[in-house]
Amino acid sequence: MPDFVAVAKVSELPDPGKIMLEVDERIVVLVHVGGEFHCIDDVCTHDGGPLAGGELCGYELACPRHGAKFDVRNGSALTMPATEDTLAHEVKVEGDTVLVRIKDD
Ligand code: FES
Repeated sequence: MPDFVAVAKVSELPDPGKIMLEVDERIVVLVHVGGEFHCIDDVCTHDGGPLAGGELCGYELACPRHGAKFDVRNGSALTMPATEDTLAHEVKVEGDTVLVRIKDD
Protein backbone atom coordinates (compact mmCIF):
# COMPACT_ATOMS: atom_id res chain seq x y z
CA MET A 1 0.00 0.00 0.00
CA PRO A 2 1.41 3.46 -0.86
CA ASP A 3 2.50 5.81 1.92
CA PHE A 4 0.85 9.10 2.78
CA VAL A 5 2.34 11.97 0.75
CA ALA A 6 2.35 15.60 1.89
CA VAL A 7 0.48 17.51 -0.82
CA ALA A 8 -0.50 20.93 0.53
CA LYS A 9 -0.71 23.24 3.50
CA VAL A 10 -4.10 23.71 5.16
CA SER A 11 -3.65 27.46 4.85
CA GLU A 12 -3.10 27.24 1.08
CA LEU A 13 -6.58 26.04 0.19
CA PRO A 14 -9.68 28.10 1.04
CA ASP A 15 -12.80 26.46 2.44
CA PRO A 16 -14.62 25.82 0.18
CA GLY A 17 -11.93 25.26 -2.42
CA LYS A 18 -10.30 22.63 -4.62
CA ILE A 19 -7.05 22.06 -6.42
CA MET A 20 -5.76 19.55 -8.95
CA LEU A 21 -2.65 17.67 -7.86
CA GLU A 22 -0.40 14.88 -9.07
CA VAL A 23 0.24 12.35 -6.32
CA ASP A 24 2.20 9.18 -7.04
CA GLU A 25 1.75 9.79 -10.79
CA ARG A 26 -2.03 10.01 -10.40
CA ILE A 27 -4.05 13.15 -11.12
CA VAL A 28 -6.46 13.86 -8.28
CA VAL A 29 -8.61 16.67 -6.89
CA LEU A 30 -8.05 17.79 -3.31
CA VAL A 31 -11.18 19.42 -1.90
CA HIS A 32 -11.48 21.55 1.24
CA VAL A 33 -15.08 21.86 2.40
CA GLY A 34 -16.85 21.99 5.74
CA GLY A 35 -13.51 22.15 7.54
CA GLU A 36 -12.43 18.79 6.10
CA PHE A 37 -10.25 17.66 3.22
CA HIS A 38 -11.23 15.01 0.70
CA CYS A 39 -9.48 13.62 -2.36
CA ILE A 40 -10.91 11.90 -5.43
CA ASP A 41 -9.61 11.02 -8.88
CA ASP A 42 -9.69 13.88 -11.37
CA VAL A 43 -11.65 11.63 -13.69
CA CYS A 44 -15.35 11.61 -14.39
CA THR A 45 -16.52 8.05 -14.91
CA HIS A 46 -18.94 9.11 -17.66
CA ASP A 47 -16.37 10.05 -20.27
CA GLY A 48 -13.19 11.05 -18.49
CA GLY A 49 -13.99 14.71 -17.85
CA PRO A 50 -11.64 16.67 -15.57
CA LEU A 51 -13.50 17.06 -12.27
CA ALA A 52 -11.06 19.67 -10.95
CA GLY A 53 -12.55 22.14 -13.42
CA GLY A 54 -16.10 21.57 -12.18
CA GLU A 55 -18.29 23.51 -9.80
CA LEU A 56 -18.22 22.59 -6.12
CA CYS A 57 -21.50 22.92 -4.23
CA GLY A 58 -21.32 21.59 -0.69
CA TYR A 59 -19.93 18.08 -0.96
CA GLU A 60 -20.98 17.77 -4.61
CA LEU A 61 -18.52 18.30 -7.44
CA ALA A 62 -20.06 18.62 -10.90
CA CYS A 63 -18.24 17.46 -14.01
CA PRO A 64 -17.76 20.44 -16.34
CA ARG A 65 -18.49 18.39 -19.44
CA HIS A 66 -22.02 16.99 -19.00
CA GLY A 67 -22.82 17.83 -15.39
CA ALA A 68 -22.61 14.50 -13.56
CA LYS A 69 -22.16 15.09 -9.82
CA PHE A 70 -19.88 13.21 -7.46
CA ASP A 71 -19.73 13.17 -3.65
CA VAL A 72 -16.21 14.33 -2.78
CA ARG A 73 -16.34 12.41 0.51
CA ASN A 74 -16.41 8.98 -1.10
CA GLY A 75 -16.37 9.40 -4.88
CA SER A 76 -19.99 8.26 -5.27
CA ALA A 77 -21.66 9.07 -8.56
CA LEU A 78 -24.78 11.01 -7.57
CA THR A 79 -26.37 11.95 -10.89
CA MET A 80 -26.52 10.91 -14.52
CA PRO A 81 -24.86 10.58 -16.92
CA ALA A 82 -22.27 9.02 -14.57
CA THR A 83 -23.28 5.62 -13.25
CA GLU A 84 -19.99 4.48 -11.71
CA ASP A 85 -18.22 5.96 -8.70
CA THR A 86 -14.85 7.62 -9.08
CA LEU A 87 -12.03 6.56 -6.78
CA ALA A 88 -11.67 8.31 -3.40
CA HIS A 89 -8.31 8.45 -1.64
CA GLU A 90 -7.36 8.65 2.04
CA VAL A 91 -6.62 12.07 3.46
CA LYS A 92 -5.26 13.14 6.83
CA VAL A 93 -4.13 16.43 8.32
CA GLU A 94 -1.07 16.76 10.52
CA GLY A 95 -0.63 20.26 11.87
CA ASP A 96 -0.78 22.53 8.82
CA THR A 97 0.03 19.74 6.37
CA VAL A 98 -2.47 17.80 4.26
CA LEU A 99 -1.41 14.27 3.33
CA VAL A 100 -2.94 11.91 0.78
CA ARG A 101 -2.56 8.16 0.38
CA ILE A 102 -3.46 6.95 -3.09
CA LYS A 103 -5.79 3.98 -3.17
CA ASP A 104 -4.97 1.35 -5.73
CA ASP A 105 -7.59 0.60 -8.36
S1 FES B 1 -17.54 13.41 -18.96
FE1 FES B 1 -18.32 13.97 -17.01
S2 FES B 1 -20.47 14.05 -17.26
FE2 FES B 1 -19.70 13.43 -19.18
